[in-house]
Amino acid sequence: MTTIAQAQPNIALIKYWGKRDHGENLPAVSSLSVTLQTLWTRMSVEFRDEDGPDTLRVNDGDAPAMLTRVSHCLDLVSGPGRRRANVVSHSNFPIGAGLASSASAFAALVVAADKESGGCRERIDLARLAGASSGSAARSLFGGFVELTAGEDRIDVMTICESPDWPLEVVVAITAEGPKPVGSGEAMIRGERTSPFYSAWLERQDDDLAAAREAVIGQDFEKLAAVAEHNCLKMHSVMWSSRPPIVFWNDSTLSCMETIRALQSDGHPVFFTIDAGPQVKAVCLPEAAAVVTDALAQTAGVIDTMRSSLGPGARPVESS
Ligand code: DP6
Repeated sequence: MTTIAQAQPNIALIKYWGKRDHGENLPAVSSLSVTLQTLWTRMSVEFRDEDGPDTLRVNDGDAPAMLTRVSHCLDLVSGPGRRRANVVSHSNFPIGAGLASSASAFAALVVAADKESGGCRERIDLARLAGASSGSAARSLFGGFVELTAGEDRIDVMTICESPDWPLEVVVAITAEGPKPVGSGEAMIRGERTSPFYSAWLERQDDDLAAAREAVIGQDFEKLAAVAEHNCLKMHSVMWSSRPPIVFWNDSTLSCMETIRALQSDGHPVFFTIDAGPQVKAVCLPEAAAVVTDALAQTAGVIDTMRSSLGPGARPVESS
């Protein structure tokens, strides 16, 4: 039997950056994100009887670097004594480029593997398993606005506002293709060890989270915009002040930020956020989505734009 599950990436408005425990992959800070609709990863998992290693195909190619993480995730979901698996992953957006492809991949993987092993775990348990493979993946198990609480020895994850209740849109400006120079995990370790701003980042995170949660519950776009941009720039300040520094931005990243500033000055409800890559995500109210998409598409260096509303959490889509 083969089971296919689908998950969408999520975009953090209050960022996860830094780990409490690297072995267990426990985040040092809580975070808040929105799960997208239009971008997706579909993972198919088939446990087979023959021996040999697990196999992994990603967008029709081999992915040896990812295979170890996938095998480890399958061990967590189905037990280390499980049968070997053939795993196939397809994403309809660039992977490994700061678009949260590992979030959608591991969220879809745990759902498919759980179903394929005959399990029917609770969503929160699947989120914890996905988070053990990639911290941000835990949030893609849930739809809409999602809060992840980082506890001492485990995480909690929940939807705090359903997408139809506050239907924001996200416009992604692709400013560079190809994989990022440093993975998030490695970049976080560097920040924890060397950035003089890391402790301040940890200290203020709960305040940012509380402000963002209040803004989401009260549907206060301006308040959410202010705290999300501030939180994003603080995360990048930790990266920039790491030794050696980590700078994911390029010229076009900055041009996109200028475009968004100009739109804001003209009264359009939009704000930016940027993750571990050069792409810019513009979050806006639905009435601004067309003008934001046009403005970003015309910004210097922008290769492509993608627009998405908010969507549901990871789920099985097919079994055969
Ligand atoms: C910048 O979830 O990719 O996107 O747990 O090491 O796999 P690992 O890290 P990952 O980090 C995501 C960092 C971020 C911010 C966020 O999504 O909250």
